[in-house]
Amino acid sequence: MASLSERADALEHDMAVELERKVAQIQPIRSAIYVSGEYDPASPRHDLFDALAAGKRFLMGPDPRIPAMPEKPTLQDFFRMRFGNTQHVLQSAKLARDAGHDEKVVLACLLHDISVTGFINGDHGYWGAALVEPYVDEEVSWAIRAHQILRFFPDESVGYTYPEAYIKYFGPDFTPEPYVHEAYKLFKDHKYYMTGRLICLNDYYAFDPSVRVELEEFEDIIARNFRQPEEGLGFDHSPSAHMWRTISMPTRAL
Ligand SMILES: [Fe+2]
Ligand SMILES: [Fe+2]
Repeated sequence: MASLSERADALEHDMAVELERKVAQIQPIRSAIYVSGEYDPASPRHDLFDALAAGKRFLMGPDPRIPAMPEKPTLQDFFRMRFGNTQHVLQSAKLARDAGHDEKVVLACLLHDISVTGFINGDHGYWGAALVEPYVDEEVSWAIRAHQILRFFPDESVGYTYPEAYIKYFGPDFTPEPYVHEAYKLFKDHKYYMTGRLICLNDYYAFDPSVRVELEEFEDIIARNFRQPEEGLGFDHSPSAHMWRTISMPTRAL
């Protein structure tokens, strides 16, 4: 008779075979933006056309290889099921809360890099702000957008210097592109400037694997400051609903 662990192995094997069968029939599609660099984006090669040539149907819904989202997903569902390592933003939010900052600042810190962990790296402040804009106070989304720019510029009045970590991450010769300097000029006198700056101040530049902050610690702040749509993120027809749907179903073909 098979032991419990043998039966568990067999079950796992069956599930893997079933998953492979599903994916073999229906092709998940990586967007052009994700394969750019692996090959020339202007070349005629494309996942969609490759799948067509192989006689496959396209995946037009959730990807069976990643966890299924609830019907009406909340911000917390995205944190748990679609965002990668969230310790950086959780630790930043904790720093802001421990420093006694306003809930809007804590929320801004909690959300400031969700685009990096869950969507798109480049211009992550702008993408992150666009994602949350319909659901938060305008001060929060403004600050998330601006932190991407402000982090490169010191502000001695609050003791913010160019992060040591950036010298390591980007190299000592890195200089931000001209549009970053132009945006800084636009942002530095804005009425919400200090909220954006406070994200930079509480941005947890070092990653400490020995510290673990839980999302539950911010349930109350999220409840008071993030307007979860009744229909679920992605299904409320807000200006960013399509972005949440894309995160939910990242390999949907069209
Ligand atoms: Fe950031
Ligand atoms: Fe950050």
